[in-house]
Amino acid sequence: MSTLQAGIYHGPGRRPPAHFALVFLRADPEADARAVDGALRAVNAMLHDLADGRVAELPGHPVPGGNLEFLLGFGPKAFDIREAKLECPAGLGPQMRFRSPRPTGGGQLLVGSGLPYAPDIVSNDATEEFCLQLTADTHLAVSRAVVELWKLLRGGRDPDTRAAVLEVAGIHTGFQREDGRSWIGFHDGVSNLRSQDREGVISIGEADAGQDAWTVGGTYLVFLRLAVDLDRWHTLPREAQELLVGRDKLTGAPLTALDGAGRPVPAVGCPVAGTTEVTQPGNEDFLQPPPVSEPVLAASHVHRVNLTGAADPGQPGSLRVFRQGYEFFETAPTAPGFRVGLNFVGFQDSPDRVLRMLTQRGWLGGINFGGRPGPDAPAGRLLSVRAGGTYLVPPVRDAAPYPGAEVFG
Ligand code: HEM
Repeated sequence: MSTLQAGIYHGPGRRPPAHFALVFLRADPEADARAVDGALRAVNAMLHDLADGRVAELPGHPVPGGNLEFLLGFGPKAFDIREAKLECPAGLGPQMRFRSPRPTGGGQLLVGSGLPYAPDIVSNDATEEFCLQLTADTHLAVSRAVVELWKLLRGGRDPDTRAAVLEVAGIHTGFQREDGRSWIGFHDGVSNLRSQDREGVISIGEADAGQDAWTVGGTYLVFLRLAVDLDRWHTLPREAQELLVGRDKLTGAPLTALDGAGRPVPAVGCPVAGTTEVTQPGNEDFLQPPPVSEPVLAASHVHRVNLTGAADPGQPGSLRVFRQGYEFFETAPTAPGFRVGLNFVGFQDSPDRVLRMLTQRGWLGGINFGGRPGPDAPAGRLLSVRAGGTYLVPPVRDAAPYPGAEVFG
């Protein structure tokens, strides 16, 4: 029986619901383990009620629950709360954390990574004590959960100091796209893990947990809110974009060679007769790009993020992760008036899988998205980070008031 929390859609045929919010909760520095335990119990109970359509201020008048699901994550700071009973697990140790942005904006996410913070980002809100992932079928169900959370926490404020044990300190929202594509126009999520391999990659096993045995059966969430510079992307012709991604833009077929003029050649026979896209049934053999030795193709995004091919995904060295990303669109004060990108969410038995993928040479190390190194390369500044963090998602235990309650209870 899986002890993973709800909100990780890894089972066969399961797809993440359309709407997403990741909320960061800050604990009052004066609050001790007892107070935080009380606040987390209340949050958990309120969200369970909401999922069943019960809203505190509307007794006896249920609302549609929208299939709301929620997941609670513990960041490194959660273990610094006064009188916490357990130490920070090794999986959230200092080497597993992202760097802070520069006080003047920008700066490297990690030593060895080609991902910078955006120039206007001076603080990273994904470093608070807790995160709550909210997913639901409707925009309302996710938004209402955030508002009800705020109401609940507000109600717990100290009348004299106005301080609450927990406060909402950051919110990032996103959605699934029914066209299965990302903002750069290519199919995304084509080559995710096969469902039978997922639990082995996601779930913390005994060997992964080491001394932190209480984390077995949980997982680690790595979050990156990545803005895409569409203006720059659209200066590139389609063929250049395909060489950077490693797939045909229209069909999603993996590229396997270059022709005599250096143009991309998709896998022969993909998509199979009667289909138009690699995502359609019958194209299963083409979902994962075959290994390539041609240097331009080997430098593309899909090859830099998966160098181990058919190796056992359960082995940490495979650096395979379960991606459950949500796209975003937000208005912005400067032209063109909007910003788009991806809420990258990876679930895996250790954040190390993602961190090594981002920093190892030959993988994404020193590379922003794909292609050759350097900020002046065609995709050298395509992505910028707006927030990023690593969280332990403790396992579900029978009779526990909320996952991870042993840290404070
Ligand atoms: C806005 C940022 C990003 C965009 C637009 C993007 C887009 C894509 C696209 C179009 C594909 C090919 C379709 C597929 O195979 O699913 C892909 C694959 C993939 N991406 Fe990204 N990606 C982004 C960031 C990242 C980051 C930061 C990582 C790693 C930390 C990553 C890891 C992967 C992996 C593991 C695959 C599957 C590769 C394979 O096995 O074939 N992506 N991405």
